[in-house]
Amino acid sequence: MKAIVVRPGERDSIHMRDMPDPKMKPDQVAVKMLRVGLCGTDAEINHGLYGKPPDGDEFLILGHENLGVVEDVGKKVKGWKAGDLVVSTVRRPCGVCPQCKSGENDMCSSGQYTERGIMRRHGFMAQYYVESPQFLNKIPKPVRDFAVLLEPMSVVEKGIDHAFLLQRRTTWKPKFGMVLGGGPVGLLAAAVLRARGLRTLVIGREEANDLRAQISKQLGAQYLCVANKALPDVPKETGYPDLVIEATGSAKVVFDAMEILGPNGVLCLLSVTGGQTQNQEPIDLINQRLVLGNQVVFGSVNANPRHFAMGVKDFVTIDKKWPGTLSRLLTNRIPWQDHKSWFNERGSGIKSTLEIS
Ligand code: BGC
Repeated sequence: MKAIVVRPGERDSIHMRDMPDPKMKPDQVAVKMLRVGLCGTDAEINHGLYGKPPDGDEFLILGHENLGVVEDVGKKVKGWKAGDLVVSTVRRPCGVCPQCKSGENDMCSSGQYTERGIMRRHGFMAQYYVESPQFLNKIPKPVRDFAVLLEPMSVVEKGIDHAFLLQRRTTWKPKFGMVLGGGPVGLLAAAVLRARGLRTLVIGREEANDLRAQISKQLGAQYLCVANKALPDVPKETGYPDLVIEATGSAKVVFDAMEILGPNGVLCLLSVTGGQTQNQEPIDLINQRLVLGNQVVFGSVNANPRHFAMGVKDFVTIDKKWPGTLSRLLTNRIPWQDHKSWFNERGSGIKSTLEIS
């Protein structure tokens, strides 16, 4: 079959080539790929900064944000049929740590997990893949147009879910949520916060007439352009948030965000930043605010099947409340033969997809 691969560790190695057809076992289903979403992690892998091939392989099939359709069902599989729309989870268990042993692969503590399209396991930029149904999510037809966003949505769902779980330490009724970054993850976070009834402010560098601002408004969120503002000054105008979701991809913003939380506030960090940047920070001030404010800063990566299920449910709710909004995030549909165009020049769109079939 055709697949898009990289040689991890080597810069700009991405190309299409023939790879062996996957072989379906009786307890698996075979899925034909429809499209994959492209994200910063794919770009980092193609820059040679991140990612590993499966043990013994030279190449890694790239791609982790996925949407496919079931083509064949193994004899031992119940509850799936050809034609079912499907999104697969990304991470597989290490088999040794207590978290993976109890199904919390996203919280793996050994570091020996694998991730499809990222770490030691082939991804979804291919014509087909095979998988055990326990790692698959059925997609209801009404959300199929934007279902390729489910993987990033699951990351958002986990972050927000864990913020609420952490705050069981006190009576917490968040009213004001702030989202840093108007990319796909930021806008999905804004949609979830709005669906939970929070006043929501999206903060980005783009101008107030940008599509990111229009989508924020359509969701009933506010948008603030901070191109010429220091983030720590923003709450003087807007008020101090109860919950901040950081999704800018900039570590500098992460530390600025520690200065903007309200009392008992929570800062959820979702950006995986590469690089070696050094910076001076007002550490006494940051520490004093965190301590005197009983504040929480936590990192969150990946998601477990519960968060994929929450994502599907919220997709339905959000599309009913604000019809058509989530589809607007999908700004660039690229035929998969033309994949290099995105890796050479990412452009100003929100979410680009490679259309496979
Ligand atoms: C993916 C996650 C993955 C993380 C770290 C992100 O881009 O969405 O599923 O766990 O990268 O590899």
